Amino acid sequence: MDKETVKERLLDYAEMTERAIDAYLPERECLQKNVILAARHSLTAGGKRIRPALVMEFCRACGGEPETALPVACAIEMMHTFSLIHDDLPCMDNDDMRRGKPSCHKAFGEANALLAGDALAILPAEVIAKAGLKGTLSQNAALKIISLLGEQAGIYGMIGGQVIDTENEGKQLPENVLLEMYRMKTGALLEFCCRAGVIAAGGGADLQLAAGTYARKLGLAFQIIDDILDVTADEKLLGKPVGSDKESGKYTYAALVGIDKARSEAARLTEEAAEALSVFPDREFLEGLTRLLLERNY
Ligand code: IPE
Ligand code: IPE
Ligand code: MG
Ligand code: MG
Ligand code: MG
Repeated sequence: MDKETVKERLLDYAEMTERAIDAYLPERECLQKNVILAARHSLTAGGKRIRPALVMEFCRACGGEPETALPVACAIEMMHTFSLIHDDLPCMDNDDMRRGKPSCHKAFGEANALLAGDALAILPAEVIAKAGLKGTLSQNAALKIISLLGEQAGIYGMIGGQVIDTENEGKQLPENVLLEMYRMKTGALLEFCCRAGVIAAGGGADLQLAAGTYARKLGLAFQIIDDILDVTADEKLLGKPVGSDKESGKYTYAALVGIDKARSEAARLTEEAAEALSVFPDREFLEGLTRLLLERNY
């Protein structure tokens, strides 16, 4: 599939997601309105919307309708946005810009950013459960997906990775520990996306296994590229500060092995990820997206 077609489908998925997200978190007059505004500030600020695309495309590639997985796609974008709001806080990476706008705590203060993050961590399970109760998603699939979300976002997934990252500021971790941290802080939510898409379509264990293998390779490549962009990107395009890792004492993979080796390792992981897709007959978009993410400049 050519690059332009991949970009078009990505945009379609992003538009579906944004419309649905808007309805899940409407602006409403109430005493606690600021937490809604703070969550919406970060959630509606754009972003590449890679995770929702993966959820819906894996569902489609396994014979389901992308719409079936739409609540799950919105849920993971909420969870991801929570991770970004907290990641930017002064006690973590202390970054003032996100998705081309002031970070949530810069716009709404630390307390509301913390609480908006909390809200976006809790809403996903509600959204998926309600899709199960409504019947657009089978109840069995909804339960499995909520359980997977807990696993991948929690102590042994994203949160765990963020802890290792934060605790080791100022230290160069050995390569194996660094990559294990990347698997958790970044790879785990991507693994959720791919496996949840398979579950939403009613795909079997073999397909979930392949989706997981794909996502773990993609996750490492994705974080390595993110680290490279922190050094090389144009800040306006990136939408978040460049040089943040160095400033907060993060010894990234790019710092460990150098930009060139990091880039070639990301390319190798990208090819391995693409190979893991071979069990999916309808994989052209996913292959194209995987390669597009390697070349991205934001
Ligand atoms: C940024 O994720 C955080 C990482 C896990 C590297 P994205 O690069 O997907 O950020 P958005 O969603 O496009 O803003
Ligand atoms: C991303 O790590 C991990 C999570 C946000 C969970 P980074 O700290 O490198 O992400 P950016 O560069 O701030 O987006
Ligand atoms: Mg961070
Ligand atoms: Mg950060
Ligand atoms: Mg980064």
